[in-house]
Parts: sequence; C-alpha cells; structure tokens
Amino acid sequence: MELTKQEKAMLDGKEGYAVKKSMEILVALGDIFGAEKLIDVGSVQVAGVSYHNLGDAGLDFLNSLAEDGRVKVLTTLNPAGMDLENWQQLGISPEFAEKQNLVIDAFTRMGILVSCTCTPYLIGNVPLYGEHIAWSESSAVTFANSVLGARTNREGGPSALAAAFVGKTPCYGLHLDENRVPDINVQVNAELSRLSDWGALGYAIGKKAENKIPYISGIKKATLDELKSFGASLVTYGAKPLFYIKDITPGAELRQQPKETVTIEKTDLDDAYNKINDQVDEIDFVCVGCPHCSIKEVAEIADLIRGKKVATGTELWVATSRTTKQLADKHGYTAIIEAAGGKFACDTCMAVAPLKGRFKALATTSAKGCFYSRQNLMKTKMGSMKECVDAAVTGKWNN
Ligand code: F3S
Repeated sequence: MELTKQEKAMLDGKEGYAVKKSMEILVALGDIFGAEKLIDVGSVQVAGVSYHNLGDAGLDFLNSLAEDGRVKVLTTLNPAGMDLENWQQLGISPEFAEKQNLVIDAFTRMGILVSCTCTPYLIGNVPLYGEHIAWSESSAVTFANSVLGARTNREGGPSALAAAFVGKTPCYGLHLDENRVPDINVQVNAELSRLSDWGALGYAIGKKAENKIPYISGIKKATLDELKSFGASLVTYGAKPLFYIKDITPGAELRQQPKETVTIEKTDLDDAYNKINDQVDEIDFVCVGCPHCSIKEVAEIADLIRGKKVATGTELWVATSRTTKQLADKHGYTAIIEAAGGKFACDTCMAVAPLKGRFKALATTSAKGCFYSRQNLMKTKMGSMKECVDAAVTGKWNN
C-alpha cells in the first residue's frame, strides 16, 4: 500500500504508541485485502465494548492504547455489557460492573463518545451519502451502507479503533464502486404488515443471497424502523452488509439489474418464522430494541403497555440509547413503561449483556435478537410489538 510522508511518520511512531500500533493494523489489513491507499473517514463506530466479550486481555489492550491514543474523528461506541447507570436493576453483578466501568474509562480517555448504541445514526453520528466511514456493528454498517449511502466495511473492534486514531482506513471492499454492485435480484411477492415481517424477510433473503448484495423489488414503502430491523436480520442470516430496495434506498436506480433472480413468497416468510420460533409457551424475558429502539418505537411500547402490568416472573427490557431514553423521559414514555414494571436497558443489549442461563424463553420483534439469544441458551419467539407486549403482560406467547 502506498503511504504518504505523514502516514509513514505515523507508522514510524512519530505520533506515539497508539497511532503506531494503529498504522500497523491498517497497513496489515490493507496489504491482505489489496488496498492501494488509506482514505480519510468521517466517523468511526467501535464495537467490542462489553467486558463479557473483551475479558481482561481486551481491557489490558485498551488501557495500553489509552495511554497516548486520542481519536481524530467523531467516534461512538457500540452497546456495552450493562446499563452504565442502572446495571443493578438489570441484575448485573458488582464484579462485572467494576470491570465494565474500567473498559468505559479507557474509551473515555481516548476521546470517544460513550454513546453505547448500535443506532448511532439516531443520535448524531449520521454520515452523508458517499462518505467513507469505519463502523463496526453489523446492523449499523448495513444501515449506513444501504439506507444512508455511506461507505464502510464491517470493521472489527481493533481496526475501527485504529481508524479512529489515524482518521483513515484502507480503501478496499465496500469503499470501492466496483464492490457495491448488486449481484442478486430479489423479487418480493409477499405482504409485510408488521415489524417482525421485516426480520423474517431479512432471514429469507439472507439465506438465499448467500453473501451477495441483493437488489430488491416489489416493496412499495418502508419506515426507518423497518429498514433497521431488516438490515440487522439480512446481515445476520447471510448477505453482505449492503442492500438496495428499488425506489426506496439511494443508489438503487443507478445500478444494473443482476443476472441471477430469486423470489420471496409468503411461504418463505412463514418458513423464516418457523425456523426462528421455538416451541415454547411460557415467556420469562421480553426484550425489544434490537437494533436499539427509536423514540417512535419507545412511544409505541408505552402506548401498548399503558395501564397494564408486566407479569410476575417475566421481565420486559426496552433496549435503547441513553439519548433516546432522555427524550422518552421528557415525553412521559419512561414513566408509563416503568409504572407497568418494564425496565430500560440503555447502553446495552440482549446479545452483549451477560445473560447466559438467566432466562429460559425470549419474546422479541427482532430476528437478529433471536439468533444471539439462542447462543445465550434461550428459546425464542419473534412477533409484532403488540405480541411482545402481550407476552410481557401475560408471561405467555399467544400462538
Ligand atoms: Fe444492536 Fe445488540 Fe441487536 S448491538 S443490533 S441490539 S444484538
């Protein structure tokens, strides 16, 4: 990879240890993937924040970088392993909380915004169309590439941090025009009537697209929440973190239609539900907000649960960013949800919190949430927001 004089100086350690280490990571990545140069990035989103995944080795690595590493561009964090304020209410142990706080301290010293969300585009980290960025979390990467038209590979935690310290990333993969061309045509012939249908659609297309970029036709309209749910599912179940929907997402009209075509029928969505849903009636955990809830989703939950009570033995978590929760506080949604016995899980989510063995059966709107909760040994049910709130109130899934 060709380096400028300034980049060579950074690699030689002229800007300190963290920048030197970062340059080593970026140059190694660039060489592996055949990048010709580094390009400036407008923002970074760093995943790998939960102490549950990092462990002590990861914490030591972060502390070593925090000695002299300071980010050069707007950098936000993915969810951590706990709500940074109300971790006790969510049943997190003091030992875990102490370690998680040390992780957050290290990121704070680096100058990173402790936003702890996978929807940074909802709280001020919003890249422009065509802007190069270095983001990590797969649903955020997919949303940025597809809905906003920004350009990012799916960075690992270390390569995203490296991009933040250097302000650049190697120019390969989805940064290049030739790698953003759709290579499978998807005709959707099924009605999408509730949020979870978009997760089922992501599952169905992800399985058929098999690491390709889909160009999707047949969808008349979509909301932001539907697209964020769809992208999260699509990339979890198999496709690249980029999709085009005709007449809805940017760039689609510029593309040639690919040669290969698949169709999605109602039976494909039914099959997705069958694969994602387990045989289970009793629900002890309801978690909505994967990806993190927008304020519109929080309002919908408040509306559905107003005046009701979460069943004894069942927990309802609303996973969202702290910024969105603050808005919910102002509008009274928080008070309604908490009066019903629901809990906010800010800064964290069901996949990165240490939940293994704590709950038996999850109800959620999210296909991605089901995928990760099975790894946490839960049975899963996916359905609409209303079905999830009903499950929280009754402790049962209404099949
Ligand atoms: Fe976000 Fe966690 Fe889901 S990072 S997309 S809420 S698994």
